[in-house]
Amino acid sequence: MLTKRIDGKARAKRLLADVAAAAAALKAGPGIVPGLCAVLVGSDPASQVYVGSKGKAAVAAGIQSFQHRLSETTSEAELLALIGKLNADDRVDGILVQLPLPKHIDPQRVIDAIDPAKDVDGFHAENVGRLWSGGRARALVPCTPYGCLLLLRDASPALAGAEAVVLGRSNIVGKPMAALLLAENCTVTLVHSKSRDIPAILRRADIVVAAVGRPEFVRGNWIRPGATVIDVGINRVEISGGKPKLVGDVAYAEAQGIAAAITPVPGGVGPMTIACLLRNTLIAACRRRGHAEPAV
Ligand code: GUN
Repeated sequence: MLTKRIDGKARAKRLLADVAAAAAALKAGPGIVPGLCAVLVGSDPASQVYVGSKGKAAVAAGIQSFQHRLSETTSEAELLALIGKLNADDRVDGILVQLPLPKHIDPQRVIDAIDPAKDVDGFHAENVGRLWSGGRARALVPCTPYGCLLLLRDASPALAGAEAVVLGRSNIVGKPMAALLLAENCTVTLVHSKSRDIPAILRRADIVVAAVGRPEFVRGNWIRPGATVIDVGINRVEISGGKPKLVGDVAYAEAQGIAAAITPVPGGVGPMTIACLLRNTLIAACRRRGHAEPAV
């Protein structure tokens, strides 16, 4: 079987163009300019890169970008006070606090403090509850799993009734991915570190979403022939004598000829996350102002 490479970069470019067109129409019509504020605490190098790229992508799409880069020693009370200010700031439609936070700050308390209407990460209990209780239309949906769903819709002939296996039960990817696939009428299995015989569970899957953060964890012979594979992993592995290399959670080369379609790393899920974040910001801006949502 020839395995199709799912081009997330191209799909994200299309979504970004749709978001930019909708943002331009909002500015020209009702005069709304959506605003996104990213908050970074500390100096984690990967988080600095992510926050920088989110800001640049926002500006390119016609979304106003605000950033707060706070020192590692910022207290939880100071961070909560900033969130209170951003909740009250009418220019800000989306608030994103980059995770992970330093150990002395409780991430759940911070997420709980964000106005759910501005929670463009979709991590607040109100948005999580709406997603799981079937009210996806009114939820803000977490960006990475929503990006995976858009790629799956393009790549997979039928989601209804399909056996979907999600590897990893994080609040950021695994759990919301399971909720989205359930809403598409898949039969969903959520696999985690305590699951027994993971290869056997995977061999039943028509759809695999891997989000465990372990380099090439999923081997080729675990994949059912004809399955669609979405690889959320971004793992940096050292190469002796060479530059570090990015690999996913799936052994990409081994999946060739077995999977019907697979996302590469990089260039698969990664670019979709930022595009979905800007889409959420646009949606939040419209909902907060009682304006009809653009169909992006
Ligand atoms: N860290 C890793 N992924 C994410 C994400 O989607 N949102 C935020 N805020 N932090 C992250």
